[in-house]
Amino acid sequence: MNYAAPMVRIEGLSKFFPGKLNFWNKPVTWVKAVNNINLDIYEGETLGVVGESGCGKSTTGSCITRLLDPTGGKIEYLPRNQDTPVDLARLTERELHPYRADIQMVFQDPFSSLNPRMNVRDIISEPLRAFGEKKGPALDDRVAQLMLKVGLRPEYMSRFPHAFSGGQRQRIGIARALSSNPRLVICDESVSSLDVSVQAQTLGLLEDLQEQLGISYMFIAHDLSAVKHISTRVTVMYVGKIFEVADTETLYGHPMHPYTEALLASVPKIKNDRTVRKINLPGEVPDPSSPPEGCFFHPRCAYATPDCAHCVQELRPVTGEEGHLTTCIRAEELSLRGV
Ligand SMILES: Nc1ncnc2c1ncn2[C@@H]1O[C@H](COP(=O)(O)OP(=O)(O)O)[C@@H](O)[C@H]1O
Ligand SMILES: [Mg+2]
Repeated sequence: MNYAAPMVRIEGLSKFFPGKLNFWNKPVTWVKAVNNINLDIYEGETLGVVGESGCGKSTTGSCITRLLDPTGGKIEYLPRNQDTPVDLARLTERELHPYRADIQMVFQDPFSSLNPRMNVRDIISEPLRAFGEKKGPALDDRVAQLMLKVGLRPEYMSRFPHAFSGGQRQRIGIARALSSNPRLVICDESVSSLDVSVQAQTLGLLEDLQEQLGISYMFIAHDLSAVKHISTRVTVMYVGKIFEVADTETLYGHPMHPYTEALLASVPKIKNDRTVRKINLPGEVPDPSSPPEGCFFHPRCAYATPDCAHCVQELRPVTGEEGHLTTCIRAEELSLRGV
């Protein structure tokens, strides 16, 4: 991997939603869903994003695809065969159009994310038609190819989503995302609603496709085992902030943030087919419109000192470890447990 030139470089990205409104419907508080984050995504990698529900994972993904307009910051994208990045955060809808094909998204719920009134051919080819690429028999050929690629039978092209199982629908969603020949696919909880055996098949499919096509994934999930399985690097988010980034083995084996340690410890050891592997930590997640002073995690942290209530929360390199970033001011003096 070429760590010198990221494909996407996120700098100071924020997304605030209106919180409480006053009598005149003007916001008096803001939900800081994503709060000034920096993050790089490299060509060909799978970047896992984990954290408790509401920590800003989906909002981050939706800002990168510009389903949401960021409140601030940059999303620098280096297009194919170009040496200068474009800032996706600033482009108008029209200027964005040529890059839309490059970054696609696969959503969580294959039941609600596919239009029930469109047949599989129309669903899969929608991005293609949007980019005016192919028509008529050529379009059908391309759809058939994509269906084969994701393990669906092309003869089902004229069927509607309701005729398929959850796992098959997710394959339709993946084929749709691939149809515009993207470089980055953002998978937002894409396997979370599937049964464990179907999850494993879908993860396997994503890996095969990556090998064939060289695409990068941003793999957002609250399931730490799925993230561990598929990711090359992992980002941990908490209350709109990035708390730790490292390659997968390092992050799981020797975390450098007490929040990561707590997340890893919360994974249930016994998993039958139906266990919901939800993160369940003691204590409450702070309200993202009024997070605590200092480190956002300090009220729940077993290792907090008085300094943690006043420190500047800043993602910094761990001493002596390349590519390992943490916000914890005590990281080097603690010896945290991995799995
Ligand atoms: N459209 C919205 N309007 C208001 N608040 C939102 C909206 N979308 C998300 N939020 C809030 O932003 C925070 C982050 O949400 P989200 O990115 O969906 O978290 P995650 O995907 O990690 O569960 C949450 O507090 C959520 O309630
Ligand atoms: Mg989400």
